[in-house]
Amino acid sequence: RNELLNRLDEWYEKSTGNDEKSKFDEVVFKKLYSQLLSENAYIDWKKWSFIKEKVQRNLDELPPFNSSKKTFLDRLVVVRLNGGLGTSMGCQGPKSFIGVKDGFSFLDLAFKQVKSEIPLLLMDSFNTFTETTERLAGRAVRQFEQSRCPRIYSDTLLPVEEESERWYPPGHGNIFASLAFSGELDRLLAEGRDIIFVSNIDNTGAVIEPAIAQFFVDADAEYAMECTLKTQADIKGGTLIEIDNHIMHLEIPQVPPQHLDDFCSTRVFKIFNTNNIWVNLRAVKRRLEEIRSEIIVNKKKLSNGREVIQLETSIGGSIRAFERAYCIHVPRARFLPVKKTDDLLTISSDLYKLQEDFSLKLSRSTPAPFVSLSSHFQEVDNFQKRFKNFPKMDDLRSLIVEGDVWFEEEVTLIGDVKIRAKNGERLVIDKRITLTDCEYSGE
Ligand code: UTP
Repeated sequence: RNELLNRLDEWYEKSTGNDEKSKFDEVVFKKLYSQLLSENAYIDWKKWSFIKEKVQRNLDELPPFNSSKKTFLDRLVVVRLNGGLGTSMGCQGPKSFIGVKDGFSFLDLAFKQVKSEIPLLLMDSFNTFTETTERLAGRAVRQFEQSRCPRIYSDTLLPVEEESERWYPPGHGNIFASLAFSGELDRLLAEGRDIIFVSNIDNTGAVIEPAIAQFFVDADAEYAMECTLKTQADIKGGTLIEIDNHIMHLEIPQVPPQHLDDFCSTRVFKIFNTNNIWVNLRAVKRRLEEIRSEIIVNKKKLSNGREVIQLETSIGGSIRAFERAYCIHVPRARFLPVKKTDDLLTISSDLYKLQEDFSLKLSRSTPAPFVSLSSHFQEVDNFQKRFKNFPKMDDLRSLIVEGDVWFEEEVTLIGDVKIRAKNGERLVIDKRITLTDCEYSGE
């Protein structure tokens, strides 16, 4: 262990700058690295229990927001996590630039969703900061940049030498250290803004919920995590447990491999973390040195095939550092992420309507359809080219598209529809066609 730490010191000495930011990032990474070398990866499965009733609230049962009290609005800041790139959807730049609804990108919606009296603060990474600043073009949005850490080889645990693939942002658990380093933590506290509402920028359902804000203030809470019912689509999401009388966020890396089925089961763990998180910044300031999240070892491959790991932490994991931490059960509508173009189709279609507060609302009472598009649609550019306009899907239960398929205008899809282009052939779905409960391959 000492040998590895010495080699890391040597690497930092020769490989990074002497500026304040580089030094701060080095401290961040060294903490993660020590955690990797010293902490037990898995929890003791015999020791966990479900979280107690007293730390749980249902959004439906919270006292309605009392607008005459409005005390929290001037204490609130909205933080959107904007460190990620759109690589999984074939985009080069920040994921938040992807167009999602009526010409608005995630970034546009994030901006429009907050009222002018509440500041919007973006946490960018080195991957997104400059481009985001340019894109914002002077809009009233504050930004700070999170840390930059070196990937390490899986076999030697030493930093990668390939310069262009060396760096990564170490997960959103890095938010508190980065808020403090950037000066935003003290700035916000000096302005009297001490409650942050944090969410993923690709979650268009994460608008301010006044009843939660009100509860957070009235309960003098330090931390609250919005959780919702788990479906088959969310089996990998983190959840909350109690261990040694303390609340903890449980994610796959901490689950002993023989218990993964239990972890993924929607019967054992009924809820998961939406990553809509409320935190009191005075508590952050007080506890800055103690805030640690469980480490997430994220395995990746370099373009030359060599296996590397990224040491990350999540904001959910930091729950264990706070007192008066709550789990708020919220409806699914507050969790509307876009991970793949499959989700983009549903959200961009008429099924979701843009509301006055710029959130998106499902326009029917039954759940959104299951959508699975072929590999031809998985990059945003190709996805957009393949729809003259988005099909009408109001009465669609499921859609599976296989192969090289193209949609003309005003297509209507009803019930369970499977569209399959024959191998090597291109299938065009004609203008104004309606497909109802069928498997369609041109005839
Ligand atoms: P994640 O990458 O943590 O979760 O990003 P995800 O979107 O569920 O990722 P996959 O698809 O399972 O891999 C969640 C949010 O956190 C931001 C991202 O930009 C996204 O909005 N993020 C993530 C950061 O800002 N910094 C990070 O270091 C990691």
